[in-house]
Order: sequence, then C-alpha cells, then structure tokens
Amino acid sequence: MIANILTAKTKTIRSALSALLLLSLSAIAQVRPLDELPREQLRVFLKGHMGDWRLDTDQTKGRPAPLAHKPPPLDAHLIALPRPDTLHLGAMPLKDAIGQRRSRRAFSDAPLTLSELSFLLWCTQGITKIERDKEGQIVNEFRTVPSGGARHPFETYLLLNRVTSLIPGLYRYLPLDHALVLLRADDALEAKSVEACYDAAFVGQAAVVFVWAALPARTEWRYGPIAHRMIAIEAGHVAQNLALAVESLGAGCCPMLGYNQRKMDALIGVDGDEEFTIYLAPVGKVRHDTP
Ligand SMILES: Cc1cc2nc3c(=O)[nH]c(=O)nc-3n(C[C@H](O)[C@H](O)[C@H](O)COP(=O)(O)O)c2cc1C
Repeated sequence: MIANILTAKTKTIRSALSALLLLSLSAIAQVRPLDELPREQLRVFLKGHMGDWRLDTDQTKGRPAPLAHKPPPLDAHLIALPRPDTLHLGAMPLKDAIGQRRSRRAFSDAPLTLSELSFLLWCTQGITKIERDKEGQIVNEFRTVPSGGARHPFETYLLLNRVTSLIPGLYRYLPLDHALVLLRADDALEAKSVEACYDAAFVGQAAVVFVWAALPARTEWRYGPIAHRMIAIEAGHVAQNLALAVESLGAGCCPMLGYNQRKMDALIGVDGDEEFTIYLAPVGKVRHDTP
C-alpha cells in the first residue's frame, strides 16, 4: 500500500518535472537569438503578416490606447527650448540639403547652440498638430515625421556633451512641452558612449548623440504583428529628417546601428524590454580638415 502511494507520488513529481522541462524548452524555442533563425524566418519580419492582421489587435479587443509620450519624472525640472516658430534656421534649399547629405564622422569642438538643438528636435519629433476629444484628452499627436496611425513609438534621449547653456548629461525630449528634462548630469558620457558603440571614437567627439528608443506597445496596440516592421521603417523617417536638418546647419551626423544593445540601453536608462534603443546618431559641427 505504502509502496503504491510512493510510486504514485513519484509519478506525479516526474510528470510535473517533465511538464516544467517542456515549458522551459518551448520558452527557449520561442525566443531564439536572431542568428539562430533561418533566413526565411527573418524575412517574415520585413514581409509582415501574410493574412488579415487587423482582426486581432489590442485595439479590436477594446484595450485602452497607450499614450504616445512618456510623461516626465514627477519632480522633473523642465528646460524650455526656444520655440520653433521663433527660429530662423534651416533656410538651406531642400535640394541642396538632400544633395549634400553625407554620413559625417569628423566633428569639431564647436558646440551646438540651444536654438540649433531645439530645431533638430523639432525636425525629428516635434509636434505640429494635436487632436483632442470633447473632454480635452489628446487623441492624436501629429509630428514632423509620419507614423502609422500617428502612434509615434519613439522617445528621444540625448547624450549631451557640448550644447551652449546646458551641462553635459543624459536628457530626454518632451515633445508636448517642446522642452528637455535632465535625467542625469554626467561628465563622462563621451567615454561611455564610445564604449557602447564598439569603440567608434567619433561618437565621443559629437556635441550630442541622439538616441531613439522604441516603445513597441504603442504601435502593437493598433497594428499587432506588423507593428515591428512599421517601427523599423519609422526610425528611418526620423533619422532622415535629422540628416537633412543638420546639413542645413553646417553640422553633420551619422546614423548608426553599430552599438551594443545592452550597454546602450543601460546608458540611457531604459529596461531593454518595453523600451529599448533602436537607432542613434552622433551630431556635431563638421570638421573639414578630414575626409
Ligand atoms: C541603418 C544604418 C545603419 C548604419 N550604421 C552605421 C554604423 O554603425 N557606423 C557607421 O559608421 N555608419 C553607419 N551607417 C552609415 C553608412 O555607413 C552610410 O550611410 C554609408 O556608408 C553611405 O554613406 P552616406 O550616408 O554618406 O551616403 C549606417 C547607415 C544606416 C542607413
């Protein structure tokens, strides 16, 4: 009798253990590193969903829409930026800016002015129109860049070294206020950003490094399985606006994916899961003595 009970218990424990093992194996199988996936599988990301993705999203399930911006920390002191409509920057003909654009990797010691930084932030994520409901709640933010469903999945972080009247440190742009919030004063950002970018020395010479973090949930809410393709495409819109805008200022930038994901996420202080670095660009006045 006792022997029977023991055998039954052992069986239960064994089957629980195998279920656990199966569960963890399937979890590993679901989240595999990209370099282990077959090419066909990787291309699915670019093709998107092969059927009708519109039927099964958080929006169709009636879940509330995530906000298109992260509010500043509660005790934050906001640094107002010069208003875009007061700036006389970016007068270079568009044709010249497009024709001259290059990826620039040689920056001078000259700082950017606060007005120039304000202009660049407006060109990349600035708000140009807001739609509100009857209660005054924001329902749509339109910005200087297109975004599927106006979901705007990015936050802009600045690794700031040399901008007039700002101390070096990590900042975040607040599009609704057209302001900055200082997240952390830091004199050692140059070295840290170089290290996070696989020792690319020119990143440390930038006056400021624009780091865009994606918050996929904002876009997933409406676009489900095609959200990720959409977010990657949209990062290109943002960086291209920056590239043309810096050109018009006699400055330059280099769009970059050459960074260590964990190190860059840690440097800008995001969790690496719900919010993570997707693209970055060091910006500075161009040094003309080198190619
Ligand atoms: C998605 C993307 C990622 C890039 N990543 C890097 C990078 O990590 N490091 C770098 O030095 N240049 C990077 N570049 C810049 C390219 O090397 C550059 O665009 C290319 O050499 C063509 O030069 P051009 O931009 O001056 O036309 C990247 C460009 C793109 C579009």
